Amino acid sequence: MTDILVLYYSRYGATAEMARLIARGVEEISGMQARIRTVPPVSTVCEATEDSIPDEGSPYATHDDLRECSGLALGSPTRFGNMAAPLKYFLDTTSSLWLGGDLIGKPAAVFTSTSSMHGGQETTLISMMLPLLHHGMLLTGIPYSETGLLHTESGGTPYGASHLAGVDSKRPLTEHEQVLCRALGKRLAETAGKLTG
Ligand SMILES: Cc1cc2nc3c(=O)[nH]c(=O)nc-3n(C[C@H](O)[C@H](O)[C@H](O)COP(=O)(O)O)c2cc1C
Repeated sequence: MTDILVLYYSRYGATAEMARLIARGVEEISGMQARIRTVPPVSTVCEATEDSIPDEGSPYATHDDLRECSGLALGSPTRFGNMAAPLKYFLDTTSSLWLGGDLIGKPAAVFTSTSSMHGGQETTLISMMLPLLHHGMLLTGIPYSETGLLHTESGGTPYGASHLAGVDSKRPLTEHEQVLCRALGKRLAETAGKLTG
């Protein structure tokens, strides 16, 4: 089996739900399996550390998860139009992978969740693309042949999957949002399959 890493941060669960749907899309491709990982929250106390295995939910990501995967889906809630600090903090620990060129040529995709419709979905998606480009990854989005992009009245962008979660982050994913999450996971896995032969 070839692994696609679905790596996300989620405080209230909306981005975590998107990760599960993207993983389902990945596993629609024969021979591909999703490895779902999260990152711990950052501490307000410098150098406070958490156990490496959380009490519940997805395991925390390691550098080996990134090294071993054949593709990466990276997701974060929008924080002031940008990715959340815990995900950025984890990415900022990846210099050794960058020095070794470990991620060069691997396909990647991004996803996000916001509370408001025009609260920065696209900017957050792009903010996550920047470090991945530095790592030499190949970005994949969602083509308009996915007709949900034309009809959605909430999330879903050509830059990546997105979800309008509402002020309490409890709004369920719409049908279009769900289909576009799965399409992104599927496209990422298909691309990884082609690249790895
Ligand atoms: C510090 C902070 C900043 C936020 N900034 C934005 C923002 O710029 N635009 C927006 O629409 N929502 C913003 N939100 C709301 C979250 O993006 C939204 O609740 C998201 O769906 C949470 O995802 P989660 O359920 O995976 O934690 C912010 C939330 C927090 C805590």
